[in-house]
Amino acid sequence: MDLMEGLLTRRSVRKYVSDRKIDPETITEIIKAAQYAPTAHNRQPWEFLVVDDKEVLAHLRHIQRWTSFAKDAACVIFVCGDIEQSFNRSKDNETWSFVDVDCAIATENLLLAAHAKGLGACYCGAAPMQRVVDDLKEYLHLPENIRPFAIVPLGYPAEEPKQPEGRFKPEKIHWGKW
Ligand SMILES: Cc1cc2nc3c(=O)[nH]c(=O)nc-3n(C[C@H](O)[C@H](O)[C@H](O)COP(=O)(O)O)c2cc1C
Repeated sequence: MDLMEGLLTRRSVRKYVSDRKIDPETITEIIKAAQYAPTAHNRQPWEFLVVDDKEVLAHLRHIQRWTSFAKDAACVIFVCGDIEQSFNRSKDNETWSFVDVDCAIATENLLLAAHAKGLGACYCGAAPMQRVVDDLKEYLHLPENIRPFAIVPLGYPAEEPKQPEGRFKPEKIHWGKW
């Protein structure tokens, strides 16, 4: 698949062929693509947790209410950020961190790689919803420095979402001046 075609045809997929697993090599390839994303100061502060335990997948909706379809996924990839590894500052009246930005870009790479491999995936938000972050950390027994950023159910698609009409809005481009 051509990169430009992939960018324009990737859609969120929320229905998956039940009981069709994805082989670990394919999952690894997808995560490899995520790790080629750009990061602030090249810190690459991400970690990826792959879970296919059906009980966990079905429980996720109690933590993040818009993930009910995750129960039918082949697995879920939790994209996490290491808050100690990321480019951040907490001194001289400055407090910031690029951890979420880095994880967001990696998540998009993950979605695009899944699409290129004929898989369906959907970005489900975790950070910056503090309650969701806290509950996921506890439920998944994540170390203190690991921030769950996104929940990505993944599977062989059992739907082909319609491509949106009018997604491109030329009026959003401001040439030269606002
Ligand atoms: C930050 C973020 C959080 C999202 N969270 C959810 C979610 O919790 N559940 C869900 O079904 N979709 C979620 N989505 C997917 C969006 O609904 C989807 O990207 C949007 O409707 C556009 O559709 P498309 O991805 O097919 O282009 C999320 C997307 C983003 C970027």
